[in-house]
Amino acid sequence: MAGVLVASVDDSGVGLLRLDDPDTRNSLSVAMREALLEGLERFDPDPEVRCIVLAGSEQVFAAGADIRAMAEPGMPAPSERTGPAFWQRIAAVKTPILAAVCGYALGGGCELALACDMIVADEGAVFGQPEIRLGIIPGGGGTQRLTRAIGKQRAMEYVLTGRRFDAATAHAWGLVNKVAERGSCLDEAQELARIVAERPSVAARLAKRAVLGSEELGMTAGLAAERELFDEAMATEDRVEGMRAFLEKREPNFRGR
Ligand code: COA
Repeated sequence: MAGVLVASVDDSGVGLLRLDDPDTRNSLSVAMREALLEGLERFDPDPEVRCIVLAGSEQVFAAGADIRAMAEPGMPAPSERTGPAFWQRIAAVKTPILAAVCGYALGGGCELALACDMIVADEGAVFGQPEIRLGIIPGGGGTQRLTRAIGKQRAMEYVLTGRRFDAATAHAWGLVNKVAERGSCLDEAQELARIVAERPSVAARLAKRAVLGSEELGMTAGLAAERELFDEAMATEDRVEGMRAFLEKREPNFRGR
């Protein structure tokens, strides 16, 4: 994976992708974007991977777009090359993705965490959309996903000032699912991911789609979409197994179909 991302899968069905480019503080260079897509799209169809954890290092989750590559006057914005496709392809991943954010999640790094389905943050994590300080604006969903997550007034303030906010604030605003004690963020994220991985995988993917649908659709269309996905879940063997197991007072043995 071009040496900037480390991938592994554990016995419980959790795939781990660790951004590993300390020299650029895990900036989303073309190499990093390609490695991330390759990793996610390799895990997504793999039945052994039922939840994905995306993590950086202890110091930095991701420092955002590759400023060095964007600094030249007149250069085409990365959005003309890998931008929209990168974010669309992340959004198209069907497997639940959990971000384990330790250290800085700035710019595209914050957007990457927001593109995941849940976020566990180290208590020292720092979030922000600093693009305005560089003369640009967020281009990977920051104005949209951040606004949906924390509300328009707060998002406007942070997008306009470029100031950072901490993990406790992110948690209080509903951006973060859990704040982990310093040093335990990845463990906590993997623990949560293991619970998701224990659930029937078809239903987990349908549930992800249904919840994300609420961001795209109005209430009536959203309820209709939910009903279709519910019918798909009802048609699975895992539904029969899950309900039988409940009635027989035993643990279910889900097979992912
Ligand atoms: N793109 C490219 N390179 C980056 C980068 C980015 N987004 N963020 C950091 N780097 C590089 C620096 O240029 C520096 O390179 P050098 O060693 O060749 O000088 C190296 O990573 C270390 O950066 P530094 O700022 O010294 O590290 P730090 O640990 O003191 O601070 C950050 C870490 C993340 C707080 C800081 O690097 C930062 O603010 N980065 C930019 C965040 C940003 O504005 N993102 C939005 C981009 S649109």
